[in-house]
Amino acid sequence: MAEATVKRISGRGRFISFEGGEGSGKSTQIKTLAERLSAAKLRAIVTREPGGSPGAEIIRHLVLSGMGKLLGPDAETLLFAAARDDHVHTVIEPALKQGIWVLCDRFSDSTRVYQGSVGQVAPAVLNAMQRVTIGDLKPDLTVILDVPVEVGMQRAAARRGAGAPDRFEAEDIRFHQELRDAYRQIAAAEPQRCVLIDATAEPGMVAAKIWSALRDRFFATGAGNLASSA
Ligand code: TYD
Repeated sequence: MAEATVKRISGRGRFISFEGGEGSGKSTQIKTLAERLSAAKLRAIVTREPGGSPGAEIIRHLVLSGMGKLLGPDAETLLFAAARDDHVHTVIEPALKQGIWVLCDRFSDSTRVYQGSVGQVAPAVLNAMQRVTIGDLKPDLTVILDVPVEVGMQRAAARRGAGAPDRFEAEDIRFHQELRDAYRQIAAAEPQRCVLIDATAEPGMVAAKIWSALRDRFFATGAGNLASSA
Protein backbone atom coordinates (compact mmCIF):
# COMPACT_ATOMS: atom_id res chain seq x y z
CA MET A 1 0.00 0.00 0.00
CA ALA A 2 1.43 3.37 -0.99
CA GLU A 3 2.52 5.63 1.80
CA ALA A 4 0.77 8.59 0.17
CA THR A 5 -2.54 6.75 0.44
CA VAL A 6 -2.01 5.95 4.08
CA LYS A 7 -1.18 9.51 4.97
CA ARG A 8 -4.75 10.48 4.17
CA ILE A 9 -6.01 8.63 7.22
CA SER A 10 -6.96 10.75 10.12
CA GLY A 11 -9.02 10.39 13.25
CA ARG A 12 -9.56 7.36 15.42
CA GLY A 13 -7.65 4.13 15.09
CA ARG A 14 -9.44 0.87 14.41
CA PHE A 15 -10.11 -1.58 17.20
CA ILE A 16 -9.76 -5.24 16.20
CA SER A 17 -10.27 -8.07 18.68
CA PHE A 18 -9.25 -11.68 18.18
CA GLU A 19 -11.28 -14.44 19.76
CA GLY A 20 -11.40 -18.22 19.79
CA GLY A 21 -10.94 -21.25 21.96
CA GLU A 22 -7.66 -22.64 23.27
CA GLY A 23 -5.07 -23.32 20.57
CA SER A 24 -6.90 -21.44 17.83
CA GLY A 25 -3.71 -19.63 16.78
CA LYS A 26 -4.60 -16.09 17.80
CA SER A 27 -1.12 -14.96 18.78
CA THR A 28 0.44 -16.05 15.48
CA GLN A 29 -2.26 -14.28 13.50
CA ILE A 30 -2.14 -11.09 15.54
CA LYS A 31 1.61 -10.90 15.03
CA THR A 32 1.24 -11.38 11.28
CA LEU A 33 -1.46 -8.73 11.05
CA ALA A 34 0.59 -6.25 13.08
CA GLU A 35 3.52 -6.73 10.68
CA ARG A 36 1.23 -6.23 7.73
CA LEU A 37 -0.25 -3.02 9.12
CA SER A 38 3.19 -1.75 9.91
CA ALA A 39 4.32 -2.50 6.33
CA ALA A 40 1.34 -0.40 5.23
CA LYS A 41 2.69 2.43 7.43
CA LEU A 42 -0.19 2.18 9.86
CA ARG A 43 0.58 2.57 13.54
CA ALA A 44 -0.70 -0.42 15.52
CA ILE A 45 -0.26 -1.89 18.97
CA VAL A 46 -0.75 -5.48 20.06
CA THR A 47 -2.29 -6.06 23.44
CA ARG A 48 -4.19 -8.77 25.29
CA GLU A 49 -6.83 -9.59 27.88
CA PRO A 50 -6.85 -10.31 30.68
CA GLY A 51 -3.87 -7.97 30.98
CA GLY A 52 -2.42 -5.40 28.62
CA SER A 53 -1.73 -2.77 31.30
CA PRO A 54 0.40 -3.07 34.44
CA GLY A 55 -2.64 -3.22 36.73
CA ALA A 56 -4.51 -5.68 34.56
CA GLU A 57 -1.46 -7.95 34.27
CA ILE A 58 -1.54 -8.40 38.06
CA ILE A 59 -5.17 -9.46 37.83
CA ARG A 60 -4.30 -11.79 34.93
CA HIS A 61 -1.91 -13.60 37.20
CA LEU A 62 -4.62 -14.02 39.85
CA VAL A 63 -7.20 -15.32 37.41
CA LEU A 64 -5.00 -17.73 35.46
CA SER A 65 -3.55 -19.19 38.65
CA GLY A 66 -7.09 -20.29 39.56
CA MET A 67 -7.42 -17.88 42.52
CA GLY A 68 -10.44 -16.20 40.93
CA LYS A 69 -12.23 -19.52 40.54
CA LEU A 70 -12.06 -20.05 44.30
CA LEU A 71 -14.03 -16.82 44.79
CA GLY A 72 -16.95 -18.08 42.70
CA PRO A 73 -18.21 -17.22 39.19
CA ASP A 74 -19.50 -13.69 39.87
CA ALA A 75 -16.35 -12.57 41.69
CA GLU A 76 -14.13 -14.17 39.05
CA THR A 77 -16.07 -12.22 36.42
CA LEU A 78 -15.54 -9.06 38.45
CA LEU A 79 -11.80 -9.67 38.27
CA PHE A 80 -11.95 -9.85 34.46
CA ALA A 81 -14.04 -6.67 34.50
CA ALA A 82 -11.58 -4.84 36.75
CA ALA A 83 -8.72 -5.83 34.45
CA ARG A 84 -10.68 -4.66 31.41
CA ASP A 85 -11.56 -1.35 33.03
CA ASP A 86 -7.90 -0.53 33.60
CA HIS A 87 -6.83 -1.77 30.17
CA VAL A 88 -9.52 0.18 28.31
CA HIS A 89 -8.87 3.44 30.12
CA THR A 90 -5.08 3.37 30.20
CA VAL A 91 -4.21 1.64 26.92
CA ILE A 92 -7.01 1.05 24.41
CA GLU A 93 -8.89 4.36 24.45
CA PRO A 94 -5.78 6.56 24.50
CA ALA A 95 -4.33 4.64 21.54
CA LEU A 96 -7.52 4.81 19.46
CA LYS A 97 -7.79 8.53 20.14
CA GLN A 98 -4.27 9.01 18.79
CA GLY A 99 -5.20 7.21 15.58
CA ILE A 100 -3.36 4.04 16.55
CA TRP A 101 -4.88 0.71 15.58
CA VAL A 102 -5.37 -1.68 18.50
CA LEU A 103 -5.10 -5.43 17.97
CA CYS A 104 -6.38 -7.11 21.09
CA ASP A 105 -5.98 -10.79 21.94
CA ARG A 106 -9.45 -11.40 23.49
CA PHE A 107 -11.92 -8.77 24.63
CA SER A 108 -15.51 -8.67 25.86
CA ASP A 109 -16.69 -11.64 23.77
CA SER A 110 -14.41 -13.80 25.91
CA THR A 111 -16.42 -12.77 28.96
CA ARG A 112 -19.69 -13.38 27.15
CA VAL A 113 -18.53 -16.84 26.14
CA TYR A 114 -16.38 -18.10 29.04
CA GLN A 115 -18.27 -16.54 31.95
CA GLY A 116 -21.69 -16.10 30.31
CA SER A 117 -22.55 -18.91 27.89
CA VAL A 118 -20.38 -21.54 29.50
CA GLY A 119 -19.87 -20.22 33.03
CA GLN A 120 -23.56 -19.38 33.49
CA VAL A 121 -23.02 -15.95 35.02
CA ALA A 122 -26.36 -14.13 34.64
CA PRO A 123 -26.76 -11.76 31.66
CA ALA A 124 -27.83 -8.95 34.02
CA VAL A 125 -24.50 -9.23 35.87
CA LEU A 126 -22.52 -9.27 32.62
CA ASN A 127 -24.44 -6.33 31.18
CA ALA A 128 -23.92 -4.25 34.30
CA MET A 129 -20.18 -4.92 34.30
CA GLN A 130 -19.96 -4.20 30.61
CA ARG A 131 -21.70 -0.85 31.05
CA VAL A 132 -19.24 0.18 33.72
CA THR A 133 -16.06 -1.04 32.05
CA ILE A 134 -16.46 -0.37 28.35
CA GLY A 135 -19.63 1.69 27.94
CA ASP A 136 -20.22 1.97 24.20
CA LEU A 137 -16.76 0.79 23.15
CA LYS A 138 -17.01 -2.10 20.70
CA PRO A 139 -14.42 -3.63 18.39
CA ASP A 140 -14.75 -2.39 14.81
CA LEU A 141 -13.96 -5.95 13.79
CA THR A 142 -13.81 -9.19 15.75
CA VAL A 143 -11.89 -12.06 14.17
CA ILE A 144 -13.13 -15.37 15.56
CA LEU A 145 -10.72 -18.21 14.85
CA ASP A 146 -12.57 -21.50 14.72
CA VAL A 147 -10.97 -24.92 15.16
CA PRO A 148 -12.42 -28.27 16.22
CA VAL A 149 -11.92 -28.75 19.95
CA GLU A 150 -9.59 -31.75 19.61
CA VAL A 151 -7.29 -29.78 17.29
CA GLY A 152 -7.23 -26.75 19.60
CA MET A 153 -6.53 -28.80 22.69
CA GLN A 154 -3.72 -30.69 20.97
CA ARG A 155 -2.14 -27.42 19.84
CA ALA A 156 -2.45 -25.90 23.34
CA ALA A 157 -0.87 -29.02 24.89
CA ALA A 158 2.01 -28.93 22.38
CA ARG A 159 2.57 -25.22 23.11
CA ARG A 160 2.80 -25.63 26.87
CA GLY A 161 5.03 -28.75 26.70
CA ALA A 162 5.71 -30.07 30.19
CA GLY A 163 4.03 -27.05 31.86
CA ALA A 164 0.74 -27.41 33.75
CA PRO A 165 -2.50 -26.36 32.01
CA ASP A 166 -3.89 -23.02 33.22
CA ARG A 167 -7.30 -22.42 34.85
CA PHE A 168 -9.26 -22.73 31.59
CA GLU A 169 -7.09 -25.18 29.66
CA ALA A 170 -7.72 -27.58 32.52
CA GLU A 171 -11.48 -27.69 31.88
CA ASP A 172 -12.98 -30.80 30.23
CA ILE A 173 -13.75 -31.32 26.56
CA ARG A 174 -17.45 -30.49 26.99
CA PHE A 175 -16.50 -27.03 28.31
CA HIS A 176 -14.36 -26.43 25.22
CA GLN A 177 -17.08 -27.65 22.87
CA GLU A 178 -19.54 -25.23 24.48
CA LEU A 179 -17.03 -22.41 24.02
CA ARG A 180 -16.76 -23.18 20.34
CA ASP A 181 -20.54 -23.29 19.91
CA ALA A 182 -20.96 -19.99 21.76
CA TYR A 183 -18.37 -18.25 19.55
CA ARG A 184 -20.07 -19.56 16.43
CA GLN A 185 -23.38 -18.18 17.70
CA ILE A 186 -21.88 -14.73 18.25
CA ALA A 187 -20.44 -14.78 14.73
CA ALA A 188 -23.83 -15.71 13.29
CA ALA A 189 -25.67 -13.10 15.35
CA GLU A 190 -23.31 -10.19 14.55
CA PRO A 191 -22.04 -10.63 10.99
CA GLN A 192 -21.27 -6.92 10.58
CA ARG A 193 -18.79 -6.90 13.43
CA CYS A 194 -17.55 -10.51 13.39
CA VAL A 195 -15.83 -12.73 10.89
CA LEU A 196 -15.60 -16.46 11.60
CA ILE A 197 -12.47 -17.98 10.09
CA ASP A 198 -11.61 -21.64 9.74
CA ALA A 199 -8.28 -21.76 11.56
CA THR A 200 -7.45 -25.38 10.77
CA ALA A 201 -5.94 -24.16 7.47
CA GLU A 202 -2.23 -23.37 7.33
CA PRO A 203 -1.32 -20.00 8.96
CA GLY A 204 -0.63 -18.18 5.66
CA MET A 205 -4.08 -19.03 4.40
CA VAL A 206 -5.73 -17.90 7.65
CA ALA A 207 -3.75 -14.63 7.52
CA ALA A 208 -4.95 -14.02 3.96
CA LYS A 209 -8.57 -14.43 5.04
CA ILE A 210 -8.06 -12.01 7.92
CA TRP A 211 -6.50 -9.43 5.62
CA SER A 212 -9.37 -9.81 3.23
CA ALA A 213 -11.84 -9.15 6.08
CA LEU A 214 -9.98 -5.93 6.91
CA ARG A 215 -9.95 -4.89 3.28
CA ASP A 216 -13.69 -5.39 2.97
CA ARG A 217 -14.39 -3.28 6.04
CA PHE A 218 -11.73 -0.63 6.20
CA PHE A 219 -10.12 -0.22 2.80
CA ALA A 220 -11.69 0.97 -0.42
CA THR A 221 -11.92 -1.62 -3.18
CA GLY A 222 -9.32 -1.33 -5.91
CA ALA A 223 -5.69 -0.74 -5.12
CA GLY A 224 -6.03 -1.30 -1.38
CA ASN A 225 -6.83 2.34 -0.62
CA LEU A 226 -8.21 3.13 2.77
CA ALA A 227 -11.92 3.81 2.93
CA SER A 228 -12.98 7.39 3.37
CA SER A 229 -14.74 6.48 6.63
CA ALA A 230 -11.34 6.69 8.35
P1 TYD B 1 -4.41 -17.01 27.73
O1 TYD B 1 -3.22 -17.76 28.19
O2 TYD B 1 -4.21 -15.62 27.23
O3 TYD B 1 -5.22 -17.94 26.76
P2 TYD B 1 -5.34 -17.98 25.19
O4 TYD B 1 -3.96 -18.20 24.67
O5 TYD B 1 -6.27 -19.13 24.97
O6 TYD B 1 -5.95 -16.67 24.78
O7 TYD B 1 -5.44 -17.01 28.94
C1 TYD B 1 -6.57 -16.26 28.98
C2 TYD B 1 -7.68 -17.14 29.48
O8 TYD B 1 -8.67 -16.32 30.12
C3 TYD B 1 -8.39 -17.89 28.37
O9 TYD B 1 -8.54 -19.24 28.74
C4 TYD B 1 -9.75 -17.24 28.29
C5 TYD B 1 -9.95 -16.64 29.64
N1 TYD B 1 -10.78 -15.41 29.66
C6 TYD B 1 -12.02 -15.43 30.27
O10 TYD B 1 -12.46 -16.45 30.79
N2 TYD B 1 -12.76 -14.28 30.29
C7 TYD B 1 -12.33 -13.11 29.76
O11 TYD B 1 -13.04 -12.08 29.79
C8 TYD B 1 -11.02 -13.11 29.14
C9 TYD B 1 -10.50 -11.85 28.52
C10 TYD B 1 -10.29 -14.28 29.10
